[in-house]
Amino acid sequence: MSTPYRIACVVAARPNLMKMAPILRALAACATPIDSILVHTGQHYDADMDGDFFTALGMRAPDVQLQVGSGSHAAQTALVMQRFESVLESTAPSAVLVVGDVNSTLACALTAAKMQVPVLHVEAGLRSYDRAMPEEVNRVLTDQLSTLLFTSEASGMNNLLREGIPAARIHFVGNVMIDTLQRELARATPVLDVLRQVNLAGFLQHDTRYALLTLHRPSNVDDPRRLRMLMETVVKLSEDVPVLFPLHPRTRAMLQRHELGKLLDTPRVACLPPQAYRAMLGLMKHASLVLTDSGGVQEETTALGVPCLTLRDSTERPVTVSEGSNAIAGRDASVILALSRDILRYGGKAGRIPPFWDGHAAERIAGHIGRWLALDGEPG
Ligand code: UD1
Repeated sequence: MSTPYRIACVVAARPNLMKMAPILRALAACATPIDSILVHTGQHYDADMDGDFFTALGMRAPDVQLQVGSGSHAAQTALVMQRFESVLESTAPSAVLVVGDVNSTLACALTAAKMQVPVLHVEAGLRSYDRAMPEEVNRVLTDQLSTLLFTSEASGMNNLLREGIPAARIHFVGNVMIDTLQRELARATPVLDVLRQVNLAGFLQHDTRYALLTLHRPSNVDDPRRLRMLMETVVKLSEDVPVLFPLHPRTRAMLQRHELGKLLDTPRVACLPPQAYRAMLGLMKHASLVLTDSGGVQEETTALGVPCLTLRDSTERPVTVSEGSNAIAGRDASVILALSRDILRYGGKAGRIPPFWDGHAAERIAGHIGRWLALDGEPG
C-alpha cells in the first residue's frame, strides 16, 4: 500500500468544530490514503466553547495544541503564525486545510502559503462586502492564498471569480455544517431538558412558544449604546414571547463591563450559558423565531426551516435569505420588533433547503482533495 498523504487540518473556534468533524471522517474514508493531523490553535478554550464539543461531535482529541488563547487581532494572529510555522516544519504536510473565517484561519493560511504548502479553504467565497467585520478581512485574504477553494453556496463562486481566482480551483460542494446538523438532529436535546440543566424548568410553564437569541459580533456587542438598544428591544419583545438567550463569553463580558446585565433581569428573558451542540439544535428546532448575528445560526435555521432574523445590515450567506428562512432585520429597534411580531403572528417563511446542503458536502471535499493529491497537487 502506498504511503498516505498528510494534511494538517486546523480548528480554532467553536464554529470550526462542527465543520471539521465530517471532513475528518470523510478524509479517513477517502479512496486516496490520507492521514490528517488535527491542529487546534486554542483561540477558543473554555470547556463550553470547545472541549465539550469534541466529545459531542465524536471528534478525536487534537494531535497538536497551539494554546494561543485570547488577545488582540494582531497578537492572536501573530502567535498562531509563530507556533503553526513550527508545526509545519516538523510535520511537513502535503497541504493545510482551513475552515471558515476566524483569525486562526487566516493565520494558518498565511503561514502555509509563505512556506509554499498549498492551502485548502472550506467555506470559501462568502462575502458581506463589509470590511469593518474582522471575518471579512480573513475571508478575502484566505481565499487569495488558497489553492483549492470549496464553496457552500452559489454566491461563493461568483465572488471568487470576480476576485480573479481561476474557476478550476473552485469547487461548489455544499455546506459541511449541515452535514453535522443532519447527522445529529435526531439526537437534539429536548428544550425542557436544556432548561432543567440550568435550573429553569419552569421558565416556559405558561408558553408553548419562545424566541431564541444569540449575539456575539463586535459590531453588536462591543459598542455599549448599540448593546443597550438591542437589550431594550429584547425586553420589549419578551412582552410578546419569552426569550432564551445563550450568552457568548464576549457578550457576557460586555454586558458586565457596561452594567447592562440588569436590563435583562426580567421574568420573560432567560440568559443561559453557552450551549452544547445538541442543546443548541434542540433550542433552534423548536423556536418560533430565532434572532441572531451568527453566520452558522443563519445556515442552521435555514436547514431546519425555522424563521430567522439576522441582526446585521448584511449577510455573507445570501442563500439563507433568497432560498432559506432568514431575513435581514438590520439594526433598527422598531424594524426588529415589527418583523418579529409578524413572524409570531403569521409563522414567517419556511424557505427551502439550498442546493448541496444534503449531508454529503464533506465527502465531495474529500473526493476533490484525493483526486488533486493523486495528480501531484495540481489544482483542478
Ligand atoms: C470568534 C471569531 C468569530 C466567530 C466566533 C464564534 C474572529 C475574528 N472571530 O469570535 O468569527 O464567529 O469566534 O464564537 O476570529 N472568550 C472566552 N473563552 C473562550 C473564547 C473566548 O472567555 O473560549 C472570550 C475572551 O474574553 C475573548 C473574547 O471571548 O477575548 C473574544 O474571543 P475571540 O476568539 O477573540 O473572538 P470571538 O468573539 O469568540
